[in-house]
Amino acid sequence: MTLTFDPVVQFYDFHPAVDDFRTAVLQGLTQPQKAIAPQFLYDKRGSELFDQICMLEEYYLTRTEVQILQDNATEIAKLLGDSVLIELGSGSSQKVRILLEAAPQVKTYVALDISRQHLYESCKALMQDHRQLETIAICTDYMRSFQIPDLPVLQNQRVGFFPGSSIGNLEPDEAVEFLKNLASVLGSGALLIGVDLKKSKEILEPAYDDAKGISAAFALNLLTRINRELGANFNLDHFSYDAFYNPIGRIEMRIVSLKDQVVQFKEMSVPFAQGETLRTEHSYKYSVEEFQALATKAGLQPKQVWTDSQQLFSVHYLSW
Ligand code: AVJ
Repeated sequence: MTLTFDPVVQFYDFHPAVDDFRTAVLQGLTQPQKAIAPQFLYDKRGSELFDQICMLEEYYLTRTEVQILQDNATEIAKLLGDSVLIELGSGSSQKVRILLEAAPQVKTYVALDISRQHLYESCKALMQDHRQLETIAICTDYMRSFQIPDLPVLQNQRVGFFPGSSIGNLEPDEAVEFLKNLASVLGSGALLIGVDLKKSKEILEPAYDDAKGISAAFALNLLTRINRELGANFNLDHFSYDAFYNPIGRIEMRIVSLKDQVVQFKEMSVPFAQGETLRTEHSYKYSVEEFQALATKAGLQPKQVWTDSQQLFSVHYLSW
């Protein structure tokens, strides 16, 4: 008989309630520019679709960041020392494996993610492979304010790990506030953060509107989620998706209404004009210098930065 190791994940659930989702959606749909915050894209299906995006040929971000982490793992591991590693948006917890392999002296890992099931399963899988690692999962909307539990094991020096260029979802002034707040949650310490670099729109636009239509399905899944959880009646045949690079330095992703129509919610009806857009995401791109200036505004000191040979993506190490 073989015994399988079935680890029990230390799990803290601060998942936003359905009411938060309802409030955010109803508010977002009654503004002149309709918009819903990107963290709501990640229900179970949304997280699966996002994992598929990360494997697309056009989506150079994930494989490039993984390459940068692998190429510099020894140097990064030295900088990490034996800190507690706190990952924001741990998703499938794939990237942290590169760090953990290079830095076996890291004894504690805290994974934060908004997608409850995804978080639970990836932590469980990680624990199978790293049995000595103390793993703590926290389901929370870390893009808003968040706390980490006051556990003795978390009192060590902490290093934040924020890969994927998720900081790009915030407006630059929000990003500064976010980093300031991170400083107060992490205490003194450091941050290892992935940031997508500015580049031509010929590379950027297909990354956000791929040939297989996965990026479109990811955005449109938000409407399916709203129908299911909030009882709305979006007809998915009457909406499409588009993404374009705005040269001020961001990709803009939107759902577009294909006709004049009214969507029914329990508490109200929401009119859409033909061609009207619902913003799902902004994804900001920064040069190395621009991001260092932004981080400096938040009180962080740039210590090290790595890029790939094609200058597609950057990984920064900064400290407070
Ligand atoms: C998770 C915010 C980093 O902006 O590249 C990818 C999200 N949306 N394709 C990005 C996303 C559609 C992604 N981030």
